[in-house]
Amino acid sequence: MSSSANPLPSSPAPRVRLGNSDLAVSPVGFGCWPIAGVSSLHVSDQHSQATLHAALDAGINFFDTAYSYGYDGEADRLLRPMLRDHRTDMVLSSKVGQYFDERRQRIVDGSPATLQSHAQQILQRLDVDEVDIMYLHCPDARVPVAESAGAIREIVDRGWSRYAGVSNVNAEQLEIFQRECPVVVAQPPFNMLQQQAVVELRDFCACHTISLVCYWVLMKGLLAGRLMRDHRFDPSDKRVTYPIFQGEAWERAQDLLDELRSMAAFKQCTVAQLVIAWTLRQPGVTVALCGAKRAEQIIETAGAMNVKLESAEARRIDRWAEQFGGDV
Ligand SMILES: NC(=O)c1ccc[n+]([C@@H]2O[C@H](COP(=O)([O-])OP(=O)(O)OC[C@H]3O[C@@H](n4cnc5c(N)ncnc54)[C@H](OP(=O)(O)O)[C@@H]3O)[C@@H](O)[C@H]2O)c1
Repeated sequence: MSSSANPLPSSPAPRVRLGNSDLAVSPVGFGCWPIAGVSSLHVSDQHSQATLHAALDAGINFFDTAYSYGYDGEADRLLRPMLRDHRTDMVLSSKVGQYFDERRQRIVDGSPATLQSHAQQILQRLDVDEVDIMYLHCPDARVPVAESAGAIREIVDRGWSRYAGVSNVNAEQLEIFQRECPVVVAQPPFNMLQQQAVVELRDFCACHTISLVCYWVLMKGLLAGRLMRDHRFDPSDKRVTYPIFQGEAWERAQDLLDELRSMAAFKQCTVAQLVIAWTLRQPGVTVALCGAKRAEQIIETAGAMNVKLESAEARRIDRWAEQFGGDV
């Protein structure tokens, strides 16, 4: 099914408010991880620039990056030219506290000195005075969460970010973080096959007016429905290292996808659009972050903002997800 099955969002594009902030963002956000080229195959600057612009043209105004999106700030370098021309049209979030070392190993470092240094480098790379949201990327087991939270608060107090956020925390860590540094957003993983993190956080977030900005809504492309049951992964495709792309979990995910494929065909939308539309109806979910490395991918995912899901359809999908049987 082509992405033209659903028209692009008409103007004015849909917007949702983040927490109690003045940030109004598209319910589909653009995730900058794939364009960094660390784990995605066949990424080029030319395609990435076109993808970023396609996102903006398709009504997406929320762009999510991080200090570690790229071995050396590749995502920030790609964002910089667009920011020069469109900063006021964009809500920009970034994350600190994770980086790749010289052996290209991912390192988590939540120490205040590193968080401050990452924040300063991000602003330089992007050539902006401030971002809209700065997240702690994930808690560092060697640093008390309250200490990292204090450093994020200082980043906001210094005017380097308008608001604070936190990612990859459990409910207890979020509570500690929130006491030290009030956040407008939390960023957990969430998709049909992995719902636990949101279930754990959503009551606290509702009580404290914190929006959930969810990542892996498409489960790294699996839930876009184009990777068929007999798909042969390129040996350098790192997705095969995730349990959901292997063995019985893969087979069960394909069973679920077969149901989604037939519902999407009936509704004349794509599987990715159906999955995102379902996600945006889930209690507590405010934004679905979707990564893309090609313009046509993000045009398709932006089209999900126009897909209307009836309650009965959403309930059928709930049942299929339940039958899948818990987080992988
Ligand atoms: N806070 C955190 O710790 C954290 C962790 C992970 C992600 N994130 C954020 O969340 C964003 C989303 O996660 P993600 O980018 O890793 O994965 P994702 O959004 O679940 O999947 C993105 C991938 O799916 C495929 N895809 C996207 N649209 C498609 C379409 N319409 N048709 C077919 N395939 C499509 C593309 O891969 P192929 O073309 O290669 O198949 C694309 O690179 C990230 O970019 C990042 O901003 C945050």
